[in-house]
Amino acid sequence: MNTSFAHWMADVQARTEAALDRALPAAGIAPERLHDAMRYAVLGGGKRVRPLLVHAAGLLSGATPEHLDRAACAVEMIHAYSLVHDDMPCMDNDVLRRGKPTVHVQYDDATALLVGDALQTQAFLHLAEAPVCDDPMRQIGMLRLLAQASGSRGMAGGQAIDLDSVGSQLSLAELEFMHIHKTGALIRAALLLGVQCGRALPETELDNLDHVGKVIGLLFQVVDDILDTEADTATLGKTAGKDAAHDKPTYVSLLGVVRARELAGELCQDALDRLARFGDSAHRLCELTRFIVQRQF
Ligand code: IPE
Ligand code: IPE
Ligand code: MG
Ligand code: MG
Ligand code: MG
Repeated sequence: MNTSFAHWMADVQARTEAALDRALPAAGIAPERLHDAMRYAVLGGGKRVRPLLVHAAGLLSGATPEHLDRAACAVEMIHAYSLVHDDMPCMDNDVLRRGKPTVHVQYDDATALLVGDALQTQAFLHLAEAPVCDDPMRQIGMLRLLAQASGSRGMAGGQAIDLDSVGSQLSLAELEFMHIHKTGALIRAALLLGVQCGRALPETELDNLDHVGKVIGLLFQVVDDILDTEADTATLGKTAGKDAAHDKPTYVSLLGVVRARELAGELCQDALDRLARFGDSAHRLCELTRFIVQRQF
């Protein structure tokens, strides 16, 4: 990671942390336990890849950092909610997340369920209650985009397929469909929301970015599958080796780790080739794409 990218990343992570802190209800407000648990789920952890993607995509359209913070917080709240539910006993039954006990372990199952519910609605409230661009109609489109990416034809739908697929071997096309939904949809939304915070771009450029979003989204989950088998629990901050233990179909179980790595490299190159069409304004997105492949957790 070069220094300037490391600095930019740390800066976006820090401003995202501060923006999330402001966007969440204070822990002292009733119901205190629920608000405390929401803050526990969101603050003080995670790589903030989706906020980083929002900010990097915003550079393509000259968006203001303040507008980008708002879109970034909305996506990260949806993501944090998805993690809280993903870890629950009825789903992946995990006890460790971001190096801490999962929400249902630290609090209880009912609280974890409500944390997810409340974070999801807080995300839409946050994206709706102040401007994120200079065109109100476009902002309504951004709300629709986030809703589609989160729901049954996006992340939640992908999670349903994931749970249905335990113990079965999927074809490559089926696995790709699952990953594009459970993880890819929100990553793609992060890019498209970020770019829409700024000036309107030509349709061809938006289509190009949409392609990049789909590729990076799939790439992100392919790498997640690889890290589950190759990294250790302390580094990951979540239990390693759980996909095999739970008999989940993954890119590693289907292709083996060598081919999965090759595929990650191919997807990375595809994204970089498409990003080259944007010229210099895409340099943070290029660095972020490389980071997603090379990350250790
Ligand atoms: C983990 O996401 C769950 C997936 C969608 C693969 P991240 O790897 O982005 O988790 P955090 O936010 O950094 O904890
Ligand atoms: C989770 O995929 C995707 C979502 C939370 C939507 P995983 O179940 O592989 O994520 P981890 O490995 O628990 O972070
Ligand atoms: Mg899961
Ligand atoms: Mg999981
Ligand atoms: Mg995983």
